[in-house]
Order: sequence, then C-alpha cells, then structure tokens
Amino acid sequence: MRIVSGIQPTGNLHLGNYLGAIRNWVRMQDAMEQDQGECLFFLADLHAISMPHDPAQLCANTLEMVAALVACGIDPDRSTLFNQAQVPAHSQLQWLLSGTARMGWLNRMTQFKDKSGKNREGASIALFTYPVLQAADVLLYQATHVPVGEDQKQHLELARDIAQKFNNDFCPGYSDEGSDVPGVFTLPDPIIPPDAARIMSLRDGSAKMSKSDPSDMSRINLTDDADTIMKKVKKARTDPEPLPSEEKGLEDRPEAANLVGIYAAMSGQSVSDVLTTFGGEGFGKFKPALGELLVEMLAPINARFIELKQDRESLDAILAKGALKAREVARPTLDAAYNALGLIRG
Ligand code: TYM
Repeated sequence: MRIVSGIQPTGNLHLGNYLGAIRNWVRMQDAMEQDQGECLFFLADLHAISMPHDPAQLCANTLEMVAALVACGIDPDRSTLFNQAQVPAHSQLQWLLSGTARMGWLNRMTQFKDKSGKNREGASIALFTYPVLQAADVLLYQATHVPVGEDQKQHLELARDIAQKFNNDFCPGYSDEGSDVPGVFTLPDPIIPPDAARIMSLRDGSAKMSKSDPSDMSRINLTDDADTIMKKVKKARTDPEPLPSEEKGLEDRPEAANLVGIYAAMSGQSVSDVLTTFGGEGFGKFKPALGELLVEMLAPINARFIELKQDRESLDAILAKGALKAREVARPTLDAAYNALGLIRG
C-alpha cells in the first residue's frame, strides 16, 4: 500500500480538515507499521497559487501547516512530509499529463465552478488546470490509496481517468481489463471516512466548513483556544427544536445533523448513540457538552502546535528531509512517463 494525500497551506487547519482527512492520515500512518506500507503527505503550496495570495503569508502558512500536521500526530520519521515546491517532479508530471487530460473533463469539475464563481474569465489558468496537478501529485508516487474528504472525490476520479487514458494510449499491450503489461501509473482509490466526510459550516448547514469562508465563526480552527471554541459552538446556528431520539429525525435539519455528527466523530460514537444520550434535550444542554468535548480533544493538539511553530529550524529540516525522500520515490515514475511519451532526455 502506498498512501498519498495533500492539504493546501491556506491558513489554519480546521475541524473539517481534521475529521475529514488528517485524523485518517494519522490512523493510516499508524496502521502502516504492521502492513509494511508507506505514507507520503504534502503541503500543496503549488495549488495555493491558483488563487490570489500574499507570498509572505503563503510561506508562513506552509511552515505553520507543517507544525499543525505534526501536532495532529503525523510523524516525519515514519511518514514522508514535504511541500510540493521542493519536488519539481510534481510540476513536470503535471505538464506531461496535460497532454492526456481533456478540456471536457476539466469543464465538469465543480470546484472550479465554485471557486471561479461568476468571474470565470478572470480566474487563473492554474485554477482550471488545478486537478491535473492533483492527479500528478498522486500518480507520481504510484499511490494506491488517497485519504480525503468527500469534496475531493471528483478530483480523484479525474486522476483515475487520466491514469487510465495515459496507460491505454502510451503503454503498448496495456489493457484496463487486465493484462500482464503494467501501465506507467497505478489507479488510486480514494478513502473517504464514512462518519465525517463532510463537516459543514457552523453558520450555514448547507455550506462545507472551509478556510475560505470570510467568517471565522463558521469554523473551529485547531488553533482556537478554549474560550473561542466554546463561543463558536454556543453561537452556532441551530433550530428551535430539541434533538430527536433517532437519526431519521435529523433529516431536513442540516445544522443539528452537523453538530451531532461532529460530536459523534469526536467521541468515536455513532450518531444513534449520541442521540440516545441527548435525544429530547435542547441545544442549551447539547452545545456546552459539544464545546467541552472539542476543547478536551483539541487542547493537546493546540499546545503541541504552539510549541512546534516557534522552531523554524526544525520545520525547515522536516521539509528538507521529506523532499529528499519524495524526489527519490518520484524519479522512476517521472522517467517512465517521459519515456512513454517519446521525450528524449540526456
Ligand atoms: P484542502 O486543503 O481543501 O483540504 C484538505 C483535506 O481536508 C478535507 N476537507 C474536509 N473534509 C470534511 N469536511 C470539510 N468541511 C472539509 N474541508 C476540507 C479535504 O477533502 C481534503 O482531504 N485539492 C486538495 C489538496 C490536494 C490533494 C492532492 C489532496 C492537492 N493535491 C492530492 C489529495 C491528493 C485541497 O484543496 O484540499
């Protein structure tokens, strides 16, 4: 098994990133010990330049995100932790795959539509071709599994389509129906956590919790202190009804479903167990309980993060070591892709 995944270093880690992806990364890293697999996790700093950004802020955010990931449990001695910009093979492979990816495929990507909004003509080309870089990120390492939240599923399907077309077009004898000839690329499978695939905004149960939401009250950041977490949970939007005793009662109540889902994911219980405890109670009782649970679970991460982020030298060293390893793992696949395309290199 080779596990590969990435996160954009655009500001703080929030609860959606943590429950949707990072917690799974840590679990997989820990499971790999027995399974003899390998994990590579990276900061998608090249993706971050697809939107308007402040260079000094990007640099600071990248380092902070390394500290945050290590604070969450990513161990740079057991997982390869690096930033894309230090591994040129990501950009090189993106270009090679750009010959295979189709305009029609990219036109269907919902994230481009969401992020470009009404200003399609003014969006950067990088925002449009972003999913091809994402395909390169995972195909470069022959990833077998990619742990992500629900919102990345479409991008991963595209990565599989690109890999399959490339293998079909440029690997003579390869057949996707099964043959002895291996393709250049492995088709990766997404791993999406069933219980926290989509954590929603605290202000709007129909929008995902996101770094780009202008309101900080919409998300719990992993760096929020206890008072801030309690305040955000207490102010979270809800409806006036008490919590139902059964899961079915959460249908059409997106804000209530989101808070119960967060409680379940954080406590390791099922939604129905949470409702057995809190069914019939109002939010006046449930919200403080959720706030306290979040504070208890996030406090150790927060403390580690504050300590780590001050040590610039260690953060640089983690990235340098990770990049060295990533460049090594990437080389054979990049070479194979150049060869398959008939590109002559010295
Ligand atoms: P990014 O930085 O937006 O998010 C990082 C991870 O967090 C998950 N996530 C969520 N999960 C549940 N609920 C939410 N509200 C929520 N918000 C974010 C995302 O699904 C993701 O797993 N394009 C990617 C970064 C990337 C990548 C890759 C991921 C670049 N190359 C290759 C996997 C493989 C992104 O912007 O994620």
